Amino acid sequence: MKFLWICLVLAFFFALNTWGLSLEYRTCGAPADAVPLYRLFNSRSGSVDHWYTPDAAAVTDAVPKGYAFENVLGLVFLTQEEGTAPLYHVVSASATDNLYTMNLTEVGLDEANGYASVPNPPTLYIYATQVCGSVPVYRLYSAAGTDSFYTTSEAERLQFIANDGYTDLGIMGYVLPLGCS
Ligand SMILES: *[C@@H]1O[C@H](CO)[C@@H](O)[C@H](O)[C@H]1NC(C)=O
Repeated sequence: MKFLWICLVLAFFFALNTWGLSLEYRTCGAPADAVPLYRLFNSRSGSVDHWYTPDAAAVTDAVPKGYAFENVLGLVFLTQEEGTAPLYHVVSASATDNLYTMNLTEVGLDEANGYASVPNPPTLYIYATQVCGSVPVYRLYSAAGTDSFYTTSEAERLQFIANDGYTDLGIMGYVLPLGCS
C-alpha cells in the first residue's frame, strides 16, 4: 500500500515535469532548426543595395551581379516554429531595394508604391518580440541610395546614421544571434 502511494506521487511529478517541458517547447522555436541569414552588398553607384538570403547557393550566384557577401545577420527559421511569425520580402521595381518587414499592412503599402513580392521566396520566420534569446534587428533606410538596411549591431546602426545618411526606422523583428544553434 505504501509502495503504491510512492508510485502515485512519483507518477504525478513525472507528469508535471513532462508537461512543464512541453510547455517550454511550445513557446520557442528549436534553436537547432535556425539557419544563417546571409547579408550581401552591392556598391553600384547611386543605388546601393543590401540583400539578405538564407540560400548559400544564391549568395554565390549573386556575385556576378555585383553582390559581395558581408556577414551573417543572425539565425532565422525556414518553417514556422513556436513563437515565430513570417518575415516578408519585397523588391522595388528597379530591383535595387530589397525590403524586409513583418508588417503585412506595410507590404500592401509597399506594393502600392511599386514594390513586388519576390517570386518563390524562401519563407523566413523570426520573432516579433524579444523572446527565446533573440536580439533586435535594427532597420534603416537611405533615400539617396534607395537602400533598406538591417543590422543587429548597435555600433553599425549608429555609424550608418551618423556617416552614411541612413534614417533610423526602429526594429524590424528579432533573430537568434550567431552561435546560438
Ligand atoms: C504596420 O504598418 C502600418 C502602416 O505603416 C502601421 O500603421 C502600423 O502601425 C504597423 N503595425 C505595427 C504592429 O507596427
